[in-house]
Amino acid sequence: MAELENNQNVETTVVHAGRPERIGDGAVNPPIVPTSTQHAGGQYGYARDWSETGSYLEEAIGILEGGTALIFSSGMSAASAVFDLWPIGTKVVASQYSYTGVAVRLKELAELGRIELKLVDVTENSELDQVINALKPDWVWIETPTNPMMEICDLRYTAKLAHQVGAKLLVDNTFMTPIRQRPIELGADVVMHSVTKAMSGHSDLLMGALVTKDQELVEALSVRRILLGSISSAFDAYLALRGLRTLAVRMDRAEENAQILAERLQNHPAVKVVHYPGLPSHKNAGVAKDQTSGPGSVLSFEVNGTATQTDEVCENVRTITYATSLGGVETLMERRRRWEKENEAVPETLIRLAVGIENVEDLWRDLKGALDPVKR
Ligand SMILES: Cc1ncc(COP(=O)(O)O)c(C=O)c1O
Repeated sequence: MAELENNQNVETTVVHAGRPERIGDGAVNPPIVPTSTQHAGGQYGYARDWSETGSYLEEAIGILEGGTALIFSSGMSAASAVFDLWPIGTKVVASQYSYTGVAVRLKELAELGRIELKLVDVTENSELDQVINALKPDWVWIETPTNPMMEICDLRYTAKLAHQVGAKLLVDNTFMTPIRQRPIELGADVVMHSVTKAMSGHSDLLMGALVTKDQELVEALSVRRILLGSISSAFDAYLALRGLRTLAVRMDRAEENAQILAERLQNHPAVKVVHYPGLPSHKNAGVAKDQTSGPGSVLSFEVNGTATQTDEVCENVRTITYATSLGGVETLMERRRRWEKENEAVPETLIRLAVGIENVEDLWRDLKGALDPVKR
């Protein structure tokens, strides 16, 4: 496979990483290789162990994040491969807000007596310090920004704390992507992705990824992937790589839209508060600025009204899609507490707005039209 030159900008790398060798009449794109088995005599031999198409995507994600990447059938299956590494009694510190599926599973593992779990406010370095030094965890599991409260964690500080007590730091980089934040450079041991989201970008597949520089961990995680049967298909790997090519331009446009919408929402009388690291009012806007190259395309806001009125806002948009998920080219929004398993500390009137690449004036007209009728 083609080697990338050092010192390349990420916007270039995302276009060129993970392509076949440049040889006469060779394809510029990787082949889709749908097979469940491979001829004997090679390194792998079976498609649960390795995917030829997937290996191109893994090369691209690995270069972008700065480690070796493994792809999984979903973000949750990537997370599950890590959970599956943990012996009984593993001590884990995690964000008090995080993606519902991860939060529910961590809580389940704690209730089953398999892990000791402590949840923290990741926006407070002193709390992280106190909890990590008291528990001396084996793993620290962080999202930044957190889903859906958009809190920012100081990754350099957290990595230092984790390493002082011998813990590994895992960072879910789904919201930022390596275009905006590179956690391994900031000290993380493992990066996790829901590739389903911005990395692939078109809401047409499910995929996850784990990236680490630790080769022992790569081996262990790839065994978990084989035994859990959680590799993704050749078709999905192809689609994800095709989507990844435009990540930088999608991110630029969606983020520009998100910034404008966040500022306008903040001034709308039906909005109580906007959570977006691109706003100076955000608690850790300075940390975000320091460790990322932009605030990203997702924001959340609280409606000045009831849960029913918040549902009505979601039902009344016409251009924006009322649906879960994020990171696609189309703008999606939902009231997060419509999900029974969502963290009860998330306000009932909180809407997560996953901004896409449409014309921002069309988005604003739609959003304003849905918010204006909210009676206060
Ligand atoms: C931050 C974050 N991590 C992980 C996941 C889980 O990914 P998947 O839905 O691909 O399993 C999600 C899904 O919404 C997410 O938002």
